[in-house]
Amino acid sequence: MGDRVRRRLTRAISTLVAIGLATGTYSAAIAAPPELGTPRIVNGDDSAPGDLPFLVALLDAYDFEDEGAFQAQFCGGALTTSTTVVTAAHCVVDDETGAVTPPEDVLVGFTRNLKAPNVRTGSVSAIQVHPSYDSEGVTFDIAVLTLAEPVLDITPILPMRPTDAPSLTAAGALAKVAGWGNLSATKDNFPDTFKVGRLLIFPNESCGGGSKFIIGGITFDGFGSDAAATESMLCAAGVTANQKIIDSCQGDSGGPLVGGDGAAMRLIGLVSWGEDCAIKKPGVYARVSAMADFLISTNALVSVAPIVAPTIDLTVLNTALRVNFKVADDGSVPSTYTANATDPTTGQVFTCTGQPRVDLQSPFCTISDLVNNTSYSVTASISNSLGTSPTSTAVTGTPLGVPTPGAIRKVWSSYDRTIAVVVRRSFANDAPITSTALSCAPVNGGPAKAATVRGDWAILKKLRPTYYSCVIIATNALGSAASAPRVIKVTR
Ligand code: ARG
Repeated sequence: MGDRVRRRLTRAISTLVAIGLATGTYSAAIAAPPELGTPRIVNGDDSAPGDLPFLVALLDAYDFEDEGAFQAQFCGGALTTSTTVVTAAHCVVDDETGAVTPPEDVLVGFTRNLKAPNVRTGSVSAIQVHPSYDSEGVTFDIAVLTLAEPVLDITPILPMRPTDAPSLTAAGALAKVAGWGNLSATKDNFPDTFKVGRLLIFPNESCGGGSKFIIGGITFDGFGSDAAATESMLCAAGVTANQKIIDSCQGDSGGPLVGGDGAAMRLIGLVSWGEDCAIKKPGVYARVSAMADFLISTNALVSVAPIVAPTIDLTVLNTALRVNFKVADDGSVPSTYTANATDPTTGQVFTCTGQPRVDLQSPFCTISDLVNNTSYSVTASISNSLGTSPTSTAVTGTPLGVPTPGAIRKVWSSYDRTIAVVVRRSFANDAPITSTALSCAPVNGGPAKAATVRGDWAILKKLRPTYYSCVIIATNALGSAASAPRVIKVTR
């Protein structure tokens, strides 16, 4: 191997450029983060003892023997359990051959100062790469190293799960990146002790959508969707008080991007790639919350079988029901969301399954091939590789092609041969509503009269002084639906 890692070493022995503490000058796009005051760390001040204890250095085992940890360091990583280190796939996969580095060629370093006399190291017994990792597009840039011996005296960091608060990776969220990578965008200058950079998460539109994003008065360009695939990547960058760009750089790869504080602290990203370092483009990170299945299967994220049933609500559609899941945090990371609709007369069961959503909206699935105006009983469960939750409480739903009909909410007036009503609006199902009308027919027979509902009002004039039966009729491309009738007395 030596070869590949050595090659990377020369190219990479290279961190956090313009390491610094971002300050309260963020403008336009986001408000100033409150706890950031005068910068204390600008351009490469050391981390403090005890900072990011889960940060590890990946060391080339041969170079470590010959030249020590400082020369041997080629990537970063994060301890996520006592036996697993999560890093970037590109740190341990040969770009040209696709070969995975043999575990004996890598050591994990647990010491902050790589030039310290006794750098603590651990051996690696296995290296597993995400099955969807693609070195061309650098998608799913994640790998798990299994440690030969458990590390019991260092608190690991929990990877972000799809069920964690979406605010952790929302635009403008604060994050920290750390590593022993290059301090300079223009020359090789590597720190002995790791550096920490304070970054802000970019909105997806400014990551893979090409939009600009402004931080601290500096306008960053986004990457195009051809370069940054936000399903498996997220972007971040920072700006210091004196307008220097904070970014990760060569040698930081695989290292942790951390969001949240205290018990909510999570590993949200891994240093993956960028265009140069600390230019007006963000650094790109592997999006950890999109990798939960891989992390569970490699024991880098501990999950349990779901033990709490989901709660569901239904969206009525034309010959279909959309099932929306709400899931309690029971420590499980569900990988499949399943719903069943039972036809009460025939007993026939219709099913749908959904997956966790990377954009972290509540998961759903749609049961189709149902019959309109039939009432189905719907139940749901969630599952992962370890088991399935109990079944939810049943909810009844009736697929409907036409809109919900709305209703007459209140009769505003009914004299002067005029009816004025306040209407509760109809809701469109699959097809947009093309018209909503108030239609009134004399109870004792005779021609009906209709008027269009505008806003939530309808008025019918020149009626006869008698009793009228009135309905609201909503129409879409699939047909019309009428509300329950309301009898209204018209006077002169
Ligand atoms: N791929 C680099 C490495 O192997 C990390 C580059 C990060 N670049 C950036 N501008 N954030 O170390």
